[in-house]
Amino acid sequence: MSSLSNRRIEQLALSAVDACGRAYAPYSKFEVGAAILMQDGQVITGCNVENASYGLSICAERVAAAAAVSAGYRKWRGVAIASVGGVPPCGACRQFLAEFGLNTPIILVNLIDGARSVCNLSELLPRSFGSGDLPEIT
Ligand code: THU
Repeated sequence: MSSLSNRRIEQLALSAVDACGRAYAPYSKFEVGAAILMQDGQVITGCNVENASYGLSICAERVAAAAAVSAGYRKWRGVAIASVGGVPPCGACRQFLAEFGLNTPIILVNLIDGARSVCNLSELLPRSFGSGDLPEIT
């Protein structure tokens, strides 16, 4: 069960769809939008940004997460991700998002049929590595 109301889920899903429209994906043609809901109700978005040097491309989730942190937010209430197929975040993005809350609700939005599927980041990243696994630095 998600801690988010249906209204919040819908708001976040629509923001992710909107962000997807700003994706820069001329190489893969696979456009992704992400939207993160902050504790104070603000929503910060990101889209994937590709590059002619393919390996430099950045996923939508990490663009959104970095924008949120840059705006002063380190805790969030949920993340929505919109794409054709409603795909889950890649492994790198799971790890990147987990830094700011392994227990975060994730909403996957399928642009084909409009389906929304809700899960939790902890389900997507079992036996995760985090700051608690690092040795204490004295
Ligand atoms: N992509 C994302 O934006 N998020 C993911 O979690 C999976 C992949 C992007 C990266 C690249 O621009 C395109 O989708 C194809 O892999």
